Amino acid sequence: MFVPPVAGACAELSGESAAPALADWCAGLRGAALTIDGLSCRFGGLVAVDDVGLQVEAGEHVALVGTNGSGKSTLLRAVLGLQGRSRGRIVLDGTDARSPGEWDARRRLAPWIPQRQATGRFPLTVDELLDSSGHRAAAVGVATRLGVAALARQPLHTLSGGQLQRCFIARAFGAMANGGRLLLADEPTAALDFDGRDTVAGLLRALPASVLVATHDRAVAARCDRVLEMANGRVREVRM
Ligand SMILES: Nc1ncnc2c1ncn2[C@@H]1O[C@H](COP(=O)(O)OP(=O)(O)OP(=O)(O)O)[C@@H](O)[C@H]1O
Ligand SMILES: [Mg+2]
Repeated sequence: MFVPPVAGACAELSGESAAPALADWCAGLRGAALTIDGLSCRFGGLVAVDDVGLQVEAGEHVALVGTNGSGKSTLLRAVLGLQGRSRGRIVLDGTDARSPGEWDARRRLAPWIPQRQATGRFPLTVDELLDSSGHRAAAVGVATRLGVAALARQPLHTLSGGQLQRCFIARAFGAMANGGRLLLADEPTAALDFDGRDTVAGLLRALPASVLVATHDRAVAARCDRVLEMANGRVREVRM
């Protein structure tokens, strides 16, 4: 049976450059359960997600691995209503979102680190991105931990790929502090250097909330409670 992590895991969020505010907001986090049942998503004739059922318990961390094109991003996007479904239920914290208002609430409950980070049509700065999380202190704290807080005034389109990914990770942690209960992370370490990968794997592990992370990074998967594998749109459990 899954046992939720105890408080104190939050210490990892502060790291060596102790940022007391991080431990404060982290202590208030809690996870929400996600139940996906019979979910299918199609692109024309292609079935990208094929009759998938999966459960993430409140506070559980689940990795989704699998080959390129197997349906991981499509599944995460479907949880957020960014991807239409042809059938199935996606229940987060007891609600299967259908109305626009329910989808708005869903996106607040489930902050997302997208696989491809868009810099937007207007020149948003790092500071503005972190602010948009809804919890500036937490986002800036994680940005500090990830070494990108000093880039605050820089427009997003001037950042390197890894710097941009770090900023979106920091924003998502801020959104978790602002009421998020399930973090949906889509290959959050793909653009990062070796140290960055380790740091982010540790930050994810320390988050006392639910996490569903699509990843090709063994370090991230190894630190999850369970690993699911996707192949041709279907999901199977590979490690408890
Ligand atoms: N907007 C789209 N229109 C048409 N086909 C799409 C679209 N988005 C994804 N697909 C297809 O759906 C399948 C699943 O794609 P998805 O992005 O979910 O894979 P993934 O497992 O996340 O892969 P990766 O590991 O490369 O990120 C692929 O065959 C892809 O080509
Ligand atoms: Mg993907």
